[in-house]
Amino acid sequence: MAASANVLSDPVTQFAADVHAGLCRKGQKELPSKYLYDPLGFALFEVITQLPEYGLTRADERLLRRHAKEMVKNVPGPTLVSELGSGSGRKTRWILGALCEREPVSYYPIELSRAALASCESQLGDIGCVSIVGVEREYVDGLREVAALRTDGARLLVLFLGSTIGNFDSGADARFLSEVRSVLTPGDSLLLGTDLLKPIERMLEAYDDPLGVTAAFNLNLLGRINRELDGNFDLRQFEHVARFNEATGSIEMHVRSKRRQVVNVRRGGFAATFAAGETVWTESSHKYTRQEIAKLAVSCGFRTEAQWVDDEWPFAENLLLAV
Ligand SMILES: C[S@@+](CC[C@H](N)C(=O)[O-])C[C@H]1O[C@@H](n2cnc3c(N)ncnc32)[C@H](O)[C@@H]1O
Repeated sequence: MAASANVLSDPVTQFAADVHAGLCRKGQKELPSKYLYDPLGFALFEVITQLPEYGLTRADERLLRRHAKEMVKNVPGPTLVSELGSGSGRKTRWILGALCEREPVSYYPIELSRAALASCESQLGDIGCVSIVGVEREYVDGLREVAALRTDGARLLVLFLGSTIGNFDSGADARFLSEVRSVLTPGDSLLLGTDLLKPIERMLEAYDDPLGVTAAFNLNLLGRINRELDGNFDLRQFEHVARFNEATGSIEMHVRSKRRQVVNVRRGGFAATFAAGETVWTESSHKYTRQEIAKLAVSCGFRTEAQWVDDEWPFAENLLLAV
């Protein structure tokens, strides 16, 4: 799923335009995954990170907890820290804490979700030497704003955790990282979390848990269209689907229409028709190999300084240096 780059000044107008484009197109219907995170979606995602089947967040946090000191040793100071799509910020405490041992830290989480920014403040506000300034913007727009704040000699450490990079389509991940690189200067760093390829059953369970939390997270996107755009999706007439696409190496989430139906999105001024069994593609989660990450980094203007891999759940934390 490509992240949409154009932002209209009014977020509701932009949402309506993206929903119209995604549901009324020919071929595979799709919706940008960034819209999964309204306040309810954010809360459901937080529950997903606690599920026994979703080992990704625990692996990410284990690596950060165990290796934060070593990670920051590789990052020259003084440092401004910015995080792309920080979510709750819970895992970031380990990096900020390690940096605090050598200097006071300014931390700029960049998020579209206000609920996530509020959570960052409450999760991390107790670390004495950290000042937190939330940036409610799209990733790269926010990063440009943060980069403009740096003073002479300061380095930027960008965090992109949780394997959110995997939400970009193949090819779009490289374009995105190159865009991030264009905002950085040589010597800045990017700490990139990437989920690794693993047996298909294990990956599928992580995106189709037996409690149905991921299903609720996915279907909530239709609920959000109802709430914000005056839509009339009957959520009981759609179901959650998670599948592994072998050609792209990605888990895909879709919502599938159980029958032929027409849905009105009144605030968008359009109706969308669904055939029985037709799906709307809502999110991709690409699973990387270690070699693929190294190649991706080089092609986007980075050098891999170090890589840490979890031994319980294949997941890699990659420290990339802008060259
Ligand atoms: C998969 S969650 C990951 C959250 C956290 N980094 C973690 O590792 O648990 C992705 C987060 O990125 C945010 N997000 C998605 N697209 C975004 C965009 N284009 N610009 C800024 N934030 C975005 C979402 O609101 C969400 O909180």
